[in-house]
Amino acid sequence: MKICILAGDGIGPEIVAQGVKVLDKVGEKFGCTFEYSEALIGGVAIDATGGPLPDSTVERCKEADAVLLGAVGGPKWDTIDPSIRPEKGLLGIRKAMGLFANLRPAVLFPQLKHACYLRPDIVENGLDVMVVRELTGGIYFGEPRLEGEIEGERYGYNTMVYREHEIRRIARVAFEAARKRGGRVCSVDKANVLDVSRVWRDVVVDEHAEYADVELSHMYVDNAAMQLVRDPGQFDVIVTGNLFGDILSDEAAAITGSIGMLPSASLGADGPGLYEPIHGSAPDIAGQDKANPLATILSIAMMLRHSMDMAEEADCIEQAVQKTLEQGYRTGDIMEQGAKAVGTKAMGAAVLENL
Ligand code: IPM
Ligand code: MG
Repeated sequence: MKICILAGDGIGPEIVAQGVKVLDKVGEKFGCTFEYSEALIGGVAIDATGGPLPDSTVERCKEADAVLLGAVGGPKWDTIDPSIRPEKGLLGIRKAMGLFANLRPAVLFPQLKHACYLRPDIVENGLDVMVVRELTGGIYFGEPRLEGEIEGERYGYNTMVYREHEIRRIARVAFEAARKRGGRVCSVDKANVLDVSRVWRDVVVDEHAEYADVELSHMYVDNAAMQLVRDPGQFDVIVTGNLFGDILSDEAAAITGSIGMLPSASLGADGPGLYEPIHGSAPDIAGQDKANPLATILSIAMMLRHSMDMAEEADCIEQAVQKTLEQGYRTGDIMEQGAKAVGTKAMGAAVLENL
C-alpha cells in the first residue's frame, strides 16, 4: 500500500509522525507493508516553491492508495496574497482529487464524558453523529467571486451554487452511510431563504426514493446548530453543504470534548481517499509536543476501513485509542484532574503499546 504524506504546517508534522508509527505497527502485526512518499502542501510549500500546492504534490497524491494530511496554515502566511494562502492548497487538493464527500464522525467516548462542554443530562444518550459534508462545491468554490471596490468602498462576494449531480452524489453517500449505522439521515439546509437550498432539498428528497429503508428528515441550519447542543443524541447522519458542514462539524467536535479527537475521510467516486484530523495547524502549540495525536490516529483507522478494506485493523486502532483513554492518558486539550498528563509522543507511544 502506497501512502502519500502531506504533513503541512504547525502541529502537522508532529501528529502525522504518530500516525505513521501506528500504520507501521499495524503492518507489523497484520503482515502488510506501507510505503510512504512525502509531498509539500500549505505554508511549507509556499516557502519552498512559491505556491501552496505544487503540481508534483497532486501527482504524488494521485499515484498513492491513500493520502494522510496533517494541517495547513499559520500566522506566518496570514498576510500573504489571498490567492496563494495555505488554505488554497487544501481546497486545491480536495478539488484536484475529486474528493466530494467528507465524512466526519463525531463520537463522545464514554471515557471523555467529563471533557464534554454540555451538561451530563444532555449527553446522557451519548453522541454518535456522522457529518457528511459536501466538499468540492458550494460557496467555497462557486463563481462568480470577487474582492473589489465599488463607489469608493471595498466590497466582496461569493456564490453558493449546487448542481443537481453534486447534490445527488453526496445524498447517496449519506444514505449509504446511514444504512450501515442508525438508518436516519437529516439533511441540513437554509431552504426558507436560499434558492440553492431549495434545489438541495428537492434533489435530496428525489434521491431518497432509492433509499426507502432510510428515514429522511430536513432541518434549517440555524435550528440544526441549536439542536446539536440541545439534544445531540437525536442525530444519526447529517448531510449538508460545504459551508454548513464546516461549521456544524466543529460544533459537533466540541461536544466530543475536544476538536483534537475528530478524524475525517475525504472520498471521491473512485481513486485514493484523503485522511486528516479536522482540527487545523494549532500554531500556538506547534513544535512543543503538546498536540493531541488521536484525531490523526483515528483518521488512520478511517483510511484502513475506507481505502484499504482493512476493517479488522481499523477496529484494532479504535480499540487501542479507547484503551489508552481508559488508562487515563490525556493531552492538554482533554486533561482532567487525576489523569496522566502526556504530550504528543507519549500519547502516540501509549496507543502503540495498546495496539
Ligand atoms: C476544515 C478546515 C478547512 C475548511 C480550512 C482550513 C480551509 O476548516 O477542513 O474544516 O474550511 O474546509
Ligand atoms: Mg473547518
